Amino acid sequence: MLANLKSVLAKANKKNYAVGAFNINDLEILEAIISAAEKQKSPVIVQTTEGAIEYAGVEELCAMMRTAAKMAKVPVVIHLDHGKDLKLIKKCIDIGYTSVMFDGSHYDYETNVKLTKKVVGWAHKKGVSVEAELGTIGGAEDKVSSRQIILTDPKVAVDFVKRTGVDALAIAIGTSHGAYKFAGKAKLDIKRLKEIKKKLNMPLVLHGASGVPKEIVKKATKYGGKFGAMEGVPESQIKLAVKNGINKINTDTDLRLAFTAGVREVLSKEKGVFDPRKILGPAKVEIQKVVEHRMKLFGSSGKG
Ligand code: G3H
Ligand code: 13P
Ligand code: ZN
Repeated sequence: MLANLKSVLAKANKKNYAVGAFNINDLEILEAIISAAEKQKSPVIVQTTEGAIEYAGVEELCAMMRTAAKMAKVPVVIHLDHGKDLKLIKKCIDIGYTSVMFDGSHYDYETNVKLTKKVVGWAHKKGVSVEAELGTIGGAEDKVSSRQIILTDPKVAVDFVKRTGVDALAIAIGTSHGAYKFAGKAKLDIKRLKEIKKKLNMPLVLHGASGVPKEIVKKATKYGGKFGAMEGVPESQIKLAVKNGINKINTDTDLRLAFTAGVREVLSKEKGVFDPRKILGPAKVEIQKVVEHRMKLFGSSGKG
């Protein structure tokens, strides 16, 4: 069923678990995520970046996600991830996204407040939820990038939420986007998270949370992939983050890796294959496995 972010995260905040937000770019990824959510009886957030929208079209993606959500037996939130273009954000609100993120983290503080407030005004009028970002999450992927990581200041977070009225806040506690997250030991600033949660007691969001599972990287490598020294967020750190107040966890990189491993395996084993369904089918299976695993890790299984 179609759900909005605010109500799904209110439950998660009360019961101390996190809901997975998984990025989609096409039908196969969407289907894999919905199947996983139904199997795990878990609420789920499906999200598209501006890059995904450039690739597949906003109307097409929205219609596809809305149909899948309405047919699903579990709550499904349709979310715009890292929205920066105000015109596009407005469009998403108007055509049926149930939640949008305004990412103003690259602006100075006052501009971030001003623009976030503007988006909240548009969205709340239509019952659409808003996530915003304070501090910066590192990593460089397409349009989602930032040069320098600035961790979220708890006092500033209080002022930001009071002035903007956002429903969820993405905080920076040391993660970054992509598959190369940590050069040294992977560690999140849990002390900072605790302080923010204590002051705000509202749904908090962790971006750049992929685990970069070794077995998936190994499989993709076995069938011809060549990567550098990838490093994700360890599951022990994810558990600590959930325990201390994270209620929405974004995952894209792990799905990309799973997709790649599935496609590479079938193409390398079956030299004569040329039916797209036979090539993309295994990718769906790999993604579903990853999503189910993460739902269990986040504690959202059985909460749908
Ligand atoms: O933050 C989300 C992504 O992993 C980057 O996605 O390449 O679709 O912008 P993108
Ligand atoms: P990962 O790159 O760690 O999967 O993060 C995705 C994300 O934060 C999307 O907004
Ligand atoms: Zn992100």
